[in-house]
Amino acid sequence: MMGNLEGKIAIVTGAGRGIGQQISKKLAERGAKVAVVDLKAEWCEETCAMVAAVGSEALALGCNVAVSDEVNACVKAVLDKFGRIDIMVNNAGITKDGLLMRMSDEDWDAVLNVNLKGTFLFTRAVARPMMKNKSADGVQEGGSIVNLASVVGIMGNAGQANYTASKGGVIALTKTTAKELGSRNIRCNAVAPGFIQSKMTDVLPDDVKKAYMDTIPLRRFGTADDIAKCVAFLVSPEAEYITGQIISVNGGMIG
Ligand SMILES: NC(=O)c1ccc[n+]([C@@H]2O[C@H](COP(=O)([O-])OP(=O)(O)OC[C@H]3O[C@@H](n4cnc5c(N)ncnc54)[C@H](O)[C@@H]3O)[C@@H](O)[C@H]2O)c1
Repeated sequence: MMGNLEGKIAIVTGAGRGIGQQISKKLAERGAKVAVVDLKAEWCEETCAMVAAVGSEALALGCNVAVSDEVNACVKAVLDKFGRIDIMVNNAGITKDGLLMRMSDEDWDAVLNVNLKGTFLFTRAVARPMMKNKSADGVQEGGSIVNLASVVGIMGNAGQANYTASKGGVIALTKTTAKELGSRNIRCNAVAPGFIQSKMTDVLPDDVKKAYMDTIPLRRFGTADDIAKCVAFLVSPEAEYITGQIISVNGGMIG
């Protein structure tokens, strides 16, 4: 399994910390060179160091995924540096929770713009470069796109109208992308994490954590590494016949 992404070029958005950071590290461990993208290039330094530490090469890029011109410039910068794009991981995501009756237009738009439009913009921008990937004997090599969805994009969740709608949209976009680009051997799948341990979730009250834990058959919260392992599988040759799928990585939570 180690090394099965040798020679591949990957872009990971929202990669300065959290799940995106672990995904970048995992892809690098398996041999991919990684364009590490976050809102500011300097936020990518720690992740780039992690990629270098496992013997691969990183490129730090500042880009707001919700802004078309910035996304297109980012993809061009990756092509200028590495010459091709094989793997796209649309991981950047935000929450702005609140009950829908009180949700502002601004909070709705902000979450939809980053989580859903950002995923669309990067998918559109990498599609053509991925179509051009051909082996020396002309075989269409295509590429692989993985989008970050969420268990709540499948189930819904009170207080997250904007976030759940954005992730439900990501799920539908994933299936459409797989249908449109499949003939070029470009695969597109989504990972739907459940409750992932993070700085954000660590501060939840104990009774809230226990209520979540009671819904998880494997009796532990997930880690960023659990998600990274699934992404690394989906972009690898091991998953060459898998496209248009939503893979739940949630310890068995419903969904
Ligand atoms: N943590 C969880 O429990 C969980 C559960 C389900 C799904 N997810 C999804 O996984 C992904 C990663 O989550 P995380 O917990 O690591 O989040 P995080 O907040 O720790 O990291 C997100 C990163 O995205 C970056 N980002 C935010 N807006 C951006 C923009 N406009 N352009 C570029 N980068 C931007 C942030 O700077 C940050 O580095 C998200 O899509 C999230 O919705 C997380």
